[in-house]
Amino acid sequence: MLEEAWDTEWKTDDDYLQWSLAWVRAAARVLKDDGLFYIFGQLGKREHIWLHFCSMVAKELQFHDMIIWDRAVGYNERYDSFTPCYEMILALRKSESAKPYFNKDAVRLPYEEEKIKAYLRDKRYKDKDARLSHLEKGKYATNILRVPSLKGSSKEKAGHPSQKSEKLIEQLILSSSRPNDLVLDPFLGSGTTAVVAERLERRWIGIEVNPNYVRIAEQRLTALREQKDAPLFKEISS
Ligand SMILES: C[S@@+](CC[C@H](N)C(=O)[O-])C[C@H]1O[C@@H](n2cnc3c(N)ncnc32)[C@H](O)[C@@H]1O
Repeated sequence: MLEEAWDTEWKTDDDYLQWSLAWVRAAARVLKDDGLFYIFGQLGKREHIWLHFCSMVAKELQFHDMIIWDRAVGYNERYDSFTPCYEMILALRKSESAKPYFNKDAVRLPYEEEKIKAYLRDKRYKDKDARLSHLEKGKYATNILRVPSLKGSSKEKAGHPSQKSEKLIEQLILSSSRPNDLVLDPFLGSGTTAVVAERLERRWIGIEVNPNYVRIAEQRLTALREQKDAPLFKEISS
């Protein structure tokens, strides 16, 4: 993984934590009562700092969940421990009593065909049609999201060193927002959140400090809009 300026611009851990606290507070100000606030982090790069970060922000907002993004392939080889292979997504809600919107049905995972056949052989279920239509809905996703990280050769790669896969961001947006809801990404990078939000008919706001990445995000959005205007896309979505 390449190191970018934003990885090295703080002199001390404490400087980084203070800066983090400022942006978390700014974003929390506009978090809706039924919204979820997702923050990606990993251990190993800044070593322990993510642990302190989580503990600090859990005092600002209500801890909701810790999602594991299983990247499927290890990264940043190290020889004094196992090869790192996951990142974490800290989910926070507005307050202890807040009830975030969460649609588990929107992100069900299909059962494998063999599993469906085996379940249908289970004699405890008499109504096979009802059982089949239940199984065809798929299973609930766990809070371990296994989505391979983008390879350099991936068609999706747009030129950002830590670009997230659309599939991963899609699971977060689909489960925790409705069409027309507003999704904010204050570190937009190459625009993955915007592209996915727009494709799923959510409104979005993105903030990005690097003009080169803004340009990449704009190009991705233009490509999406052109695709949406294509007759085939219109036919499928209408
Ligand atoms: C981890 S990357 C986001 C990658 C993005 N999720 C994607 O899929 O392309 C973080 C981004 O935050 C941007 N950034 C850093 N500091 C910022 C700031 N103060 N305001 C806005 N953007 C900032 C960096 O330029 C970088 O593109």
